[in-house]
Amino acid sequence: MNHEELNQLLKPKSIAVIGASATPGKIGYTVMENLKESGYKGPVYPINPTAPEILGVKCYPSVSDVPGTIDSAVMCVPVKLVNSMAEECGKKGVKGLIVITSGFSEVGRKDLEDELVAIARKYKMRVLGPNIVGTLSNSDKMNASFAPFLPLDGKATLITQSGALLIAMDAATYTRRVGFDKMVSIGNMCDVDIADIIDWLNDDEKTTCVSLYIEGLKDGRKFIKSGRTSKKPIIALKSGVSAHGAAAAASHTGSLAGAAKVYGSAFKQAGIVQASDLDNLFDRTLALSLMPPLKGENLLIITNGGGVGVLATDAAERYGIPMKFAPKDVQEELKKHMPEFGSAKNPVDMTGMAGTEWYYETVRFAIAHPWVDGLIVLYCETAMTNPLEIAKGIKKALDEAGMKDKPVTVSYVGGEKSAAAMAWLVENGIPAYGAPDLAVNAMAALREYKLLRETAKEPAFKTNEKARKTAMQVISAARADGRNALTEIEAKQVFQAYGLPVTSTELAKTEDEAVTLAKKIGFPVVMKIVSPEILHKSDAGGVKVNIKDEAAAREAFNTIMKNAKAYNADAHIHGIAVQEMAPWGTETILGSVNDPSFGPTMMFGLGGIFVEVLKDVTFRVAPVDKPQALDMFSEIRGAPILAGVRGEAPRDRNAMADTVEKYSSMIVDLEDEISESDANPVLVYEEGKGIKVVDARIILKKK
Ligand code: ACO
Repeated sequence: MNHEELNQLLKPKSIAVIGASATPGKIGYTVMENLKESGYKGPVYPINPTAPEILGVKCYPSVSDVPGTIDSAVMCVPVKLVNSMAEECGKKGVKGLIVITSGFSEVGRKDLEDELVAIARKYKMRVLGPNIVGTLSNSDKMNASFAPFLPLDGKATLITQSGALLIAMDAATYTRRVGFDKMVSIGNMCDVDIADIIDWLNDDEKTTCVSLYIEGLKDGRKFIKSGRTSKKPIIALKSGVSAHGAAAAASHTGSLAGAAKVYGSAFKQAGIVQASDLDNLFDRTLALSLMPPLKGENLLIITNGGGVGVLATDAAERYGIPMKFAPKDVQEELKKHMPEFGSAKNPVDMTGMAGTEWYYETVRFAIAHPWVDGLIVLYCETAMTNPLEIAKGIKKALDEAGMKDKPVTVSYVGGEKSAAAMAWLVENGIPAYGAPDLAVNAMAALREYKLLRETAKEPAFKTNEKARKTAMQVISAARADGRNALTEIEAKQVFQAYGLPVTSTELAKTEDEAVTLAKKIGFPVVMKIVSPEILHKSDAGGVKVNIKDEAAAREAFNTIMKNAKAYNADAHIHGIAVQEMAPWGTETILGSVNDPSFGPTMMFGLGGIFVEVLKDVTFRVAPVDKPQALDMFSEIRGAPILAGVRGEAPRDRNAMADTVEKYSSMIVDLEDEISESDANPVLVYEEGKGIKVVDARIILKKK
């Protein structure tokens, strides 16, 4: 259903251009010209109230006057006309609207966009845009846009939220020699979004790789799902990485959840490779569109220059590719194609004496050898060699070896002849780059894709009805009290309902009650003020630790009460929390935010100075299962501390992963209630000894 609708929208058999113009320089003229020049084969119907013909094509005053059927209508009329034109299209039976026109939600007119969507729904039309450049496809010979021309033909498809970027990339495909089959400007995504197009491309024969430029997503979860189920590699460049909403955040986690971190994690969960900038998007797209993933860890580098070999090795380390020496039998064979002073280890340095024949022999042997999973071929331009001949030798070797499931990237360092040889390689399906670092980075993308596909699985999730009921009682009581911040005791009750190991904490309203509770819990204890108005308890002198006996408990109770009243005379004081004093362990923090695009999202990091100063934290869109939680622990810079450093025993990561899984179920279950939360600190003990949640904070969504 969806597939057929998008076929009609994006691969239309007939097109109307509404607002087609005979005046050069107008968008309505350019779209007509582009459709003609791109060689579009289907009928094109220009719609204009006065023009008799445009660029030699008969014009119609309205879509209703068009004799044939229309699959897609490209809208180039001003915003005030778009919705009435959409209504006419619906009546005519048009299937898709490509709305170039600006002036909708991007300038605060969401109402106009909602109206457009309502009309589209009424007539079962799909909408691309509004606020777009249009859509281009080499395989359909269709430039239904005001971008200058079809991109260099190739196997990638670009989906971009920035129309200007599409235009810029379109032209750059020729200078960069990175080919695209389609370029889709997605604009405001009032109906069709990036995820819809990713799904649609699964069955597109020409597209082998999907390139994304993303500014912000509306439905992050749908996006993750489309990434996980995509049959093609996806690479994304995300812009706008400054912290969003961080300033207003009430919890620690809220202030750390910048867009870059949450999007980065979401891409990982969706199995999507990332690009660091525009250059990198082109470079990685080239490799992902032309080469299979790197399936194993054995990468061989072949070079005629020691220097570039070392540079490539350094880059491999930087991008996380482990470099190993080639096995003896491989080395022995390779030695046949180099002088005595060459090196067959890895990088394989054939020295500056290497000509076409040696390149051909080594590449053909290496790519076919079972030990080799992927190959990087480096070449420095020398006076005795012909760069193009070397390129042809590499291609011949690869063709003869026929190892289509092993990736190869190439780097030439040299002048014009090298540039021409690289262009030839790319035209012949072999990604080639002007620096060793870039060839290694491209190979790293092919490796990342393979690794991400293995881990980007949908975690199992089951609602915990019993826990939810208990939590809702606590939350409802707080709401009835007019509060949207739970007290520590209430937050711990919610955590406990979901099985989080919280320190046992009870509320004392009087000095005597405090003593009784301290005896019940067992000395030493901790006492903390409980007041909705005092969230930062230590600042108010509202925390006493290591209370060892009854006399100290009485003194602590009175001192905390006095300090709290001095700090805020109007604060409502619920009492004093008496809690078990947990033995000290490695301090960590768990937390959650409700991300505007992705919904409930988990955070994990090391606590104390690591979170305050280094912001050493990582995120996952919830739910998070145990394997994903363990992956989070290994991702932070402080990971070795959890693994056990300087003779210390490893920390209980298993217990921590269990808690992350439970915490994440809690925030999914209570998605409509919890806005932000923290468990901070969470003390992690030696392996087998568990963890303890010492403090808890939950901020509710305002209702
Ligand atoms: N049916 C059909 N055509 C009509 C109708 C109608 N009912 N009424 C008017 N028209 C014709 C007009 O007569 C005109 O043709 P003409 O040149 O023969 O007179 C044509 O429609 C266009 O109307 P204009 O009023 O001339 O509008 P103009 O071309 O100046 O602007 C446009 C229209 C381009 C849609 C503009 O409103 C707009 O939105 N521009 C921004 C588009 C954009 O940049 N989108 C991508 C954003 S991404 C990026 O940043 C690149």
